[in-house]
Amino acid sequence: MSNPSDPPYETTRAHDPFVEWVRQATPYIHAHRGRTFVIAFGGEAVADPRFPDLVHDIALLHGLGIRLVLVHGARPQIEARLSGRGAELRYVNGLRITDETALACVKEAAGVVRVEIEALLSLGLANSPMAGVRIPVVSGNFVTARPLGVIDGVDYAHTGAVRRVDRQTLRAVLDQGAVALMPPLGYSPTGEVFNLSAADVARGAAVALGAEKLIFLTEDPEGQTAAADQTRGILAPNLLAREIDGLLAGSPEIPEDIAQYLRAGAEACRNGIRRVHLVQRSRSGALLRELFTPDGSGTLISAEPYEDLRPARVDDVTGILELLRPLEDGGVLVRRSRERLETEIDRFFLTERDGLITACAALYPYASDAMAELACVAVHPEYRGTGRGDRLLVHMEAIARTMRIGRVFVLTTQTAHWFRERGFEPASIDALPMQRQALYNFQRNSQVYIKTL
Ligand SMILES: CC(C)(COP(=O)(O)OP(=O)(O)OC[C@H]1O[C@@H](n2cnc3c(N)ncnc32)[C@H](O)[C@@H]1OP(=O)(O)O)[C@@H](O)C(=O)NCCC(=O)NCCS
Repeated sequence: MSNPSDPPYETTRAHDPFVEWVRQATPYIHAHRGRTFVIAFGGEAVADPRFPDLVHDIALLHGLGIRLVLVHGARPQIEARLSGRGAELRYVNGLRITDETALACVKEAAGVVRVEIEALLSLGLANSPMAGVRIPVVSGNFVTARPLGVIDGVDYAHTGAVRRVDRQTLRAVLDQGAVALMPPLGYSPTGEVFNLSAADVARGAAVALGAEKLIFLTEDPEGQTAAADQTRGILAPNLLAREIDGLLAGSPEIPEDIAQYLRAGAEACRNGIRRVHLVQRSRSGALLRELFTPDGSGTLISAEPYEDLRPARVDDVTGILELLRPLEDGGVLVRRSRERLETEIDRFFLTERDGLITACAALYPYASDAMAELACVAVHPEYRGTGRGDRLLVHMEAIARTMRIGRVFVLTTQTAHWFRERGFEPASIDALPMQRQALYNFQRNSQVYIKTL
């Protein structure tokens, strides 16, 4: 029941962070549905008492229609078994040597970890976040491996590298709605078993499947807490694949597991994966934040420069004009003079790549009506159909919200459906702010669409 002292409905709604979050996540939910994500995490994640939380997040992704491949490591579990036998893993140049004893421990540990993950994904208790969920999990001999062999005189024995990933079988598993679970193991045509790094398996799977994203959940170094935000502390939020070799050469402080993820990520990018994410596992919800918010929470490696979405400056006017002119000539947008653009430049936001403005949009607030006009939405013709329009729209809506704008409108002649598919609804001219109605061009006969934020 409403309380007479409650603020009016519009105000309550505008400030509800939950509702705002869901709305803001909506474009990402749509964009991710049906896509393939490969998510890799270490055995540390499985050993952590909070592992069920991560599994719940993974179950949520599955529920949202994302095709999931999980790749797990098992290092702590292997080390525990080795120390039980009075042995330990040996590393040379950051690569582990897997002798007979170690291989026996690797097999045992991989089996135990697999069962634990399967058990958690099978949980369906009514009072848990997994209520009513049953997620089929399929594990198997998806990876053909080869031995690393002898490098610089060191025999790495049963340590191997990915030779091939069985794309067809993995696809069939995902097509059936199951989660594919991949251990850090591979098999050779000679019947041998090889100990692989989870990073290598994840890279191989992502490349074989042409995955939309490859995500590495990173660990905090010993003694550091999540608050120290280690991954971000060392790494920039955005990295280019081609920068990684130089970064690793110049930053000996980067821990070996992160270095492995970086190398595997760069390699994946070189093989066509567009987005590789390093997300700090111990930060609660970091995976969801990375996937469903514009800024994410970790480090993004991409083959191409990540485009900054930023407010426009006066020296962008020429570039914006170049983007808008052909659309104005074609009658898609209303003509704006250079002078007008210069005066109104602070209304504009844009993305830029190597000096080329790839997309722009402007927001004209009508504060007394708690409305704003979204105008000049344009994506460079060579960059259309890659989600830039969506990203810009999400950003402009976020800006509007910070201005306490409750509704955004567009006047469009040829792009109505693009806006309708993004939550805009047809409206009459009377619904516009009075000030805007007075400027309405009846000859142009634009349609009005309004979205409630
Ligand atoms: C509309 C526009 C901004 C979309 O940008 P974008 O970066 O290509 O958009 P996204 O990648 O986020 O979305 C692409 C989807 O929008 C669809 N789309 C593009 N133009 C559309 C239009 N005029 N009407 C309906 N859908 C359209 C594409 O077909 C694609 O859908 P699909 O993936 O199902 O094939 C861009 O096409 C553009 O600049 N158009 C010309 C300018 C314009 O019309 N601006 C609006 C003025 S009111």
